[in-house]
Amino acid sequence: MLKKNILIIGSGGREHALAWKISKSKHVNMIFVAPGNGGTATEKNITNINLHTISELITFAKQNDIFFTVVGPEVPLANGIVDEFRAHDLKIWGPTKFCAQLESSKVFSKAFMLANNIPTAKYQSFSDYNSAKNYIAQQNFPLVIKADGLAAGKGVVIANNNTEAINFIQEIFNNNKFGSAGSKVVIEEFIQGVEASFIVMVDGNNILPMATSQDNKRLLDNDIGPNTGGMGASCPAPIVTQSMHQKIINEIIQPVLDGFKKLGHTYTGFLYAGIMIDTKGNPQTLEFNCRFGDPETQPILYRLNSDLFELIEAGLNCQLDQIKAQWFNQFSIGVVIASQGYPNISRNNDIIYGLEQMPANVKIFHAGTKYENNQYLTNGGRVLCVVSMADKLADAQTQVYEAVKKINFNCMQYRTDIGNKAIFI
Ligand SMILES: Nc1ncnc2c1ncn2[C@@H]1O[C@H](COP(=O)(O)OP(=O)(O)O)[C@@H](O)[C@H]1O
Ligand SMILES: [Mg+2]
Repeated sequence: MLKKNILIIGSGGREHALAWKISKSKHVNMIFVAPGNGGTATEKNITNINLHTISELITFAKQNDIFFTVVGPEVPLANGIVDEFRAHDLKIWGPTKFCAQLESSKVFSKAFMLANNIPTAKYQSFSDYNSAKNYIAQQNFPLVIKADGLAAGKGVVIANNNTEAINFIQEIFNNNKFGSAGSKVVIEEFIQGVEASFIVMVDGNNILPMATSQDNKRLLDNDIGPNTGGMGASCPAPIVTQSMHQKIINEIIQPVLDGFKKLGHTYTGFLYAGIMIDTKGNPQTLEFNCRFGDPETQPILYRLNSDLFELIEAGLNCQLDQIKAQWFNQFSIGVVIASQGYPNISRNNDIIYGLEQMPANVKIFHAGTKYENNQYLTNGGRVLCVVSMADKLADAQTQVYEAVKKINFNCMQYRTDIGNKAIFI
């Protein structure tokens, strides 16, 4: 059997986890990560390549006999990387530019949900300040306001009163805070409940669910402080019972496949539904992402006991109905360690100590790091995601935090309560 070369696009913890998991496959020769980070730079059978544009990546894929490419982040998907690779007969795992609008435009996404009866908060969309302001004046609070386009997790505010709501739409429409991503806004009802991440693989016709998980978006313990890209995640999410799981597939995931078919399109790739299980026990869709989550990927893939290469290959061959994903019957937890100033600014170039002393049941996925002169240096806001797994959630928590405490760099910050969402249900 000829072993295959794989290309992964991205540089975060999610991409390190994807590359690490695929590198364990018996089918794989070498994994290239573009551009990668300090973790992927030093992993066995993984090589970073410093390429960025879609055309450079296409040339690389052709010259290096890449069997398939996996896209980590949303931006290249929204820019049409899948359409362009396919136009060159290159296999790539992800949705087309059209389908990626489910994430890249909240206005598209809400209209799509409405058209396909997918449960979600009631909303209106606006493209100018005055109409948004008049609408806000008639609403109850809290009220949720979302910039239309991609905003790296910073485009949503939960306004507790009129002043907060007006300040946000002023920033968007009058100060152009998000550029063209803020040319429209969605204003929607606030839904009280418990959040979970529901991620699946879709091959156009079939759905293969990944394990459920829960992210922790706020910077500080007990869900206070500013929103971040995610400070840690646990897997699975006990709130998603078997019957809830089926409800989410029937009411939220399957209608996405059917809805795109009605529009003459086919959804392929990872699909992520951000779910709020409301106080009546109904799953409501907060948003869709057209990729795996970060940091959810790290604890989810650590729990995966199947060959990810084989799952993606089945997806590319529209055979997800013929394969199963096996999971370790344990809880996994990933704790993000961020640099000083995150999420507003990030302090770079601090030496990271303590990475080599880890026990076998701990895996460190790198995000904002680089490897220079035999040292790992910080190179971004979210620096590492430390993952561990145990039969009991409390043991997974103890293990992961023992590992986190061995790591040290200047002014590092992390939450101490990751996993509690899964305990306190
Ligand atoms: N309608 C809503 N009701 C309550 N909370 C919400 C609502 N919409 C979003 N949120 C909260 O805001 C966070 C970010 O919103 P989301 O739509 O996921 O946007 P993005 O991830 O693009 O920033 C969610 O994870 C959730 O905590
Ligand atoms: Mg989100």
